[in-house]
Amino acid sequence: MQGRGRVSAVHAGLSIAAIAVWTLAGTAWAQEPAAHGDARHGKAISYTCLGCHGIEGYKNAYPMYSVPKLEGQNPDYLAAALHGYRDGDRAHVTMHAQATTLSDQDIADIAAYFAGKPLVPTGKAAGTVPQAATLCVSCHGQDGVAIAPMYPSLAGQHEDYLVRALDEYRKGGRKNPVMKGFAAGLKDQDIAVIAQYFSGLAPSLSTESRPYTWLTAH
Ligand code: HEC
Ligand code: HEC
Repeated sequence: MQGRGRVSAVHAGLSIAAIAVWTLAGTAWAQEPAAHGDARHGKAISYTCLGCHGIEGYKNAYPMYSVPKLEGQNPDYLAAALHGYRDGDRAHVTMHAQATTLSDQDIADIAAYFAGKPLVPTGKAAGTVPQAATLCVSCHGQDGVAIAPMYPSLAGQHEDYLVRALDEYRKGGRKNPVMKGFAAGLKDQDIAVIAQYFSGLAPSLSTESRPYTWLTAH
């Protein structure tokens, strides 16, 4: 929020053109109306989701990696991710099927519910940001808490999920143009270092833990 991003980008020697592209992309998203979700309704329709997202340590099969933590995430980002699965910008088959059942309003509501209380940036790095992550922190934060609502926080996210997500941007299973650009140049070793760094940060995202059964949904 205090222009850290611009400084590290310049240090990293990014061309002015590349910075202009990000800034434009960031502005376009920033101007979309913020989702005004009704968390109560979101909770009422989240029963199926909790079968995976409400179980600590639950894994995706084939390939095997952890189901992402959603609590503490930015609601605008969660909504954007759900639109991505629904519209085919993200290739995950089960999440596509799940998101297809949701209207735009359902997406806003469910994003508000799962986000809970979004993490608040501390503005401080935990130790030294690894070289491979110096560009990344300009959006995702030195403490792994995103600097703006349309970016995901990465702090405490499952390490194997972060590896998977970055690999998907590299290989095209996820088509977001900004992240495709940043992931394209990463080597496996960079991804390993980056995932280890962000997954170890606190305050951390968490698995949805608020008590919930269909009986309490209303
Ligand atoms: C069968 C298990 C399963 C169910 C049910 C499920 N999810 Fe997911 N969800 C996943 C997995 C696995 C991923 C990671 C997919 C990927 O690799 O992109 C994911 C990803 C997500 C993401 C993206 C998170 C991020 O950090 O980008 C959101 C948001 C999400 N799910 C919300 C939901 C909602 C809302 C529902 C219910 C309507 C739901 N999920 C149902 C397994 C599930
Ligand atoms: C200009 C801002 C920006 C920069 C710089 C940036 N990202 Fe991102 N990142 C985003 C946005 C926006 C998304 C959401 C994309 C989508 O909808 O799939 C994202 C998504 C991600 C995700 C997926 C999170 C999830 O929960 O699924 C990971 C992991 C990630 N970025 C890591 C990185 C890494 C590593 C770098 C540096 C090499 C980086 N990002 C640089 C904006 C940025």
